Amino acid sequence: MHTPKPIIIGHRGAAGEAPENTLASFELALEQGAQAIELDVHITKDGEIVVCHDGTLDRTTNGSGLICQQQWADIQKLDAGAWFSDKFAGERIPLLSEVFDLVPKGTLINVEVKYAYEGRMESALLAFLRGVDRNEDVVISSFDHKVIQRLKRAEPALKVGLLYAANLIDHGAYAKLLEVEVYSLHPHHHSFEGSDIALATADGLAVYPYTVNELSDYQRMIDAGVTGIITDFPGRLKAYLNSN
Ligand code: G3P
Ligand code: CA
Repeated sequence: MHTPKPIIIGHRGAAGEAPENTLASFELALEQGAQAIELDVHITKDGEIVVCHDGTLDRTTNGSGLICQQQWADIQKLDAGAWFSDKFAGERIPLLSEVFDLVPKGTLINVEVKYAYEGRMESALLAFLRGVDRNEDVVISSFDHKVIQRLKRAEPALKVGLLYAANLIDHGAYAKLLEVEVYSLHPHHHSFEGSDIALATADGLAVYPYTVNELSDYQRMIDAGVTGIITDFPGRLKAYLNSN
């Protein structure tokens, strides 16, 4: 049977070659052939959804402290590129809306919700998504499966995905426990065997393992029959898929 090639999902953009979760990183991922991008979101004190992996500013900007305790007007002044390389000095933490403006329609955007922020993130995200009307292009994922369940119940047209690192006995059966339609599984790439993926995809689930960067692991994912591969190096994955 012919198995389609997995889609290339740029992790935090092209985080191996550009400062993660910046517009420069997403642009590079798209240039390199990513068919989807993955990003992480947090909420500012004044309710703006910003794209950053950590809940704090310290690691990836010249600021410090919790994002949720600071105003967007202050966060937008920070440098989010120089820590990675001088070449990227001046990159900023983007708003989620800025990433949506950058990414062409038809390219999948995987938004990972890190924290619920006592429901504030869900309300802000639902309001934003209703405003942009791009549900076909969006998959919301989280390690917090209750957030995923609540989002799907609030907005049945949304695609939702489950992030996890546990080696489950039956991945598809777990997804059914949520009692809402799950679109995709996002397991750690060591959290399954090939036969698990065949069962999940036969159940109609997309499977997008994270974060896969080595050639031998790309091949292991292809052999397992995954639907997409989340990688820090979209260009490397594209070259590998083209040559195999
Ligand atoms: O969404 C896949 C992956 O990004 C989850 O882990 O820590 O890189 O956000 P993390
Ligand atoms: Ca992530």
